[in-house]
Amino acid sequence: MRIDVLTLFPAMFQGPLTESILGRAREQKLLAIHCHDLRQWGIGRYKQIDDRPYGGGAGMVMRVDAVVPAVEAVMQGDRRVRGNQRNQGHPWKILLTPRGKRLTQTTVERLAKKKHLLLVCGHYEGVDQRVVDGGWIDEELSIGDYVLTGGELPAMVLIDAVARQIPGVLGKEESAAEESFSKSLKRKREYPHYTRPEVFRDLRVPDVLLGGHHKKIEEWRKKRTA
Ligand code: ADE
Repeated sequence: MRIDVLTLFPAMFQGPLTESILGRAREQKLLAIHCHDLRQWGIGRYKQIDDRPYGGGAGMVMRVDAVVPAVEAVMQGDRRVRGNQRNQGHPWKILLTPRGKRLTQTTVERLAKKKHLLLVCGHYEGVDQRVVDGGWIDEELSIGDYVLTGGELPAMVLIDAVARQIPGVLGKEESAAEESFSKSLKRKREYPHYTRPEVFRDLRVPDVLLGGHHKKIEEWRKKRTA
């Protein structure tokens, strides 16, 4: 899968996308992520991206004439789009915004089947509605009912959740593909886990887990499931 990200803060993606499982997935070429600085498509000498809202009100709005050319550049393979590869098909274009539909595991699994995603990170008060109404966005998504400073962290959350659905990204033991969404979500909410040592300070691992009685362990776990 290829994921392009349009953001005012590409440096924010260093770390979350280069470490751990996502880093390994990229090294193994299971996942190609390209972050592009929206400022490249800024207007005028100061590369302006935002402007005051028509009708007044607080905050600034991201300009349609900056965001749309950026989206089109990714779609068309503009040379400003670093690492652009041809034949990736049309990207599925997502705007991260608190106005969007709530991201769920069902949505994550649908997105994981796409070959190419384009994530647009909203900032300031929002993005000029014509970016959406004109068809440059296929889907608006929110990661929850709270307001963040921008769409970057939501984009990273989305990338992480989607990436672990790609075959080969997780190790065999944790393979997401073998589990239905409800199963994997349930497993993550399952019973509390313990490992060595048996006693830490005066906190003991529950006796039932040490006994090796599978039926009893199963019952205990059922009772402790969130
Ligand atoms: N931008 C700001 N807050 C957001 C949220 N909760 N989800 C997606 N994008 C956002």
